[in-house]
Amino acid sequence: MCGITGIVSMNRNNIGEVLVKCSRKLTYRGYDSVGLAAVHNGKVELRKEVGTIDEVDKLLGLSKMLGDRGISQLRWATYGAPTRINAQPHFACDDILFGAHNGNIHNYVEYRQELVDAGHIVRSENDGELCVHAVDKYYEQTADMFEAVRLSIRDLKGAYAYTVGRADMEELYAVKMGSSLVAGLAEHDTIVSSDLPSILPLTNNVVYLQDGEMLRLTPNDVEVFRIEDGRHLDRPPETSTVDEQAAEKGGYPHFMLKEINEQPKVAEDVLGVLQGSKTEKWLKMIEDASRHFLVACGTSYHAGIVGTYYFNKYAGIPLIPAIGGQFIPMYGNTLTDDSLSILVSQSGETKDIINVLNLAKENSSFGKTLGIVNVIGSTLMFGADAYIPMACGYEVSVPATKTYYSQVIIFAYLAALLGERNGTLDSSEAKACIDTLSRDLPRLTQDTINRTGIHAKDLARTLVDFKDMYCLGYGFTDGVAQEGALKIKEIAYNHCEGMYSSEFKHGPLSIIQDGYPVIFVTTRENSWMVINHLSEVRVRGGRTIIVGEYEDKLRHYVDSGKDYLVVPASNLFLNPLLNVIPLQLLSYFLSVDLGINPDMPRNLSKTLTVD
Ligand code: AGP
Repeated sequence: MCGITGIVSMNRNNIGEVLVKCSRKLTYRGYDSVGLAAVHNGKVELRKEVGTIDEVDKLLGLSKMLGDRGISQLRWATYGAPTRINAQPHFACDDILFGAHNGNIHNYVEYRQELVDAGHIVRSENDGELCVHAVDKYYEQTADMFEAVRLSIRDLKGAYAYTVGRADMEELYAVKMGSSLVAGLAEHDTIVSSDLPSILPLTNNVVYLQDGEMLRLTPNDVEVFRIEDGRHLDRPPETSTVDEQAAEKGGYPHFMLKEINEQPKVAEDVLGVLQGSKTEKWLKMIEDASRHFLVACGTSYHAGIVGTYYFNKYAGIPLIPAIGGQFIPMYGNTLTDDSLSILVSQSGETKDIINVLNLAKENSSFGKTLGIVNVIGSTLMFGADAYIPMACGYEVSVPATKTYYSQVIIFAYLAALLGERNGTLDSSEAKACIDTLSRDLPRLTQDTINRTGIHAKDLARTLVDFKDMYCLGYGFTDGVAQEGALKIKEIAYNHCEGMYSSEFKHGPLSIIQDGYPVIFVTTRENSWMVINHLSEVRVRGGRTIIVGEYEDKLRHYVDSGKDYLVVPASNLFLNPLLNVIPLQLLSYFLSVDLGINPDMPRNLSKTLTVD
């Protein structure tokens, strides 16, 4: 949520153009409002408005703003409605000190009052403004910007990152206190940002920060300090290998469609990682633990649900799934030092997951943590005892697609190896599982995209008017159905509930009337059971739609071929990876048909760094 970018340049004058170009890459973090503060000839000009970066640029000419340094911010609203006054950056009391933040200041109410009582002019209801005033308060006391930034965190409680500057100083400062922050060192510019994609247009020399650290950006240097005592830290830049093109649409109308189409390649890349030498360490961690928890949110949770089925069937290991925010209230009191929490997060910044990570770090009786994470340099990547990279490249679209796919491959692969090691599978069975992943999956994934694309588009046209539906799974397709339902809700704004199909008769069946759509996600192994559930809906007039391999016996349960999204024949091991694709495509076409931009669903942000 929210994306901040700050740039200090040696000799350029077109800071608006560069900031817009770089911060456009953070669009997935927030699109409620946008602002840009540029320093030109010792004066700060601030322009901000409600809207996406492209809309606000068009309206206010952000990219025409002159200057050699500045800060931009893309907002996803939490404190304060999405209005112009609450848009960031903010000025402190005068128009000299300016800045913007990402995250939440938890003591907002008390601290705002304290500042007002002390005579500060606080204009907005946005907590980001308090960061700027906190620095201003300490600058008044010390007349030293470095010290003012360092001391400001005494007052600001929460999980946040911010960047600030002054009209009369050439440098910018930034702090990382629980929200992500990276910096870059280019030939003629230095840059700080919430995420790597906005750094890459300028440089791939990247400096990663840890919580409790601050930065000073001058035109030719990025210096890192420990906030606690101001000690300078030696942090040479690393060369990022992330491809900048990952954040381009590459000819597709939307990032979501591009990312769905990248899945065959993701299969190859993530399998390459899993075939590497680090896998032994991950397997050992899992084997050494006596209890295994799976903690994740949203799509990552759904991938984790699928993972629990793999672990049960192939590895003979019970993996206990919990939603990020539920984990501590549900299991916190029963954790032991030989527990393993597998924390799954695309962004590696989801606050519900970072809360668990932080508690685990503070408390050895919580056992160990194993991250499954996509964003390199994220808090989860640095903080977990070990991490498995998803190897997906940047996922820009807010709806997660290729990252679900990678997460499920990781669970499937580990389950097969663990099963072989503990005797749940014999070596030929384990080999068959691994072989089908590397030999068949990329090809079958491409085949599924090709086969179901047009079909999903046709089906979507017949579903646009249904504001309410169900998507049901059974066994291995449990998490798949929940994921399909989430996608439809998220980008078509049509309510779709994901549920276990045998559970439907315990109440929700009463909703069925003529033509009410229910999607069933099937596997060949369980279709005999799903037929019962299909019948229960159909005899009551419901419209049943099937996603799965073609089976003659299932064909009777749909009105026409249109309502049967057929995936290529494979096996149970690959099924959760193939069956999700038609659901991704269906939600995509529903969204487009409804005139929605699937990459930027309203009210959402890709990286949720708030509670
Ligand atoms: C999925 O389409 C969503 N955008 C969302 O549910 C997401 O998966 C969730 O917020 C978790 O994010 P994470 O994987 O970055 O932790």
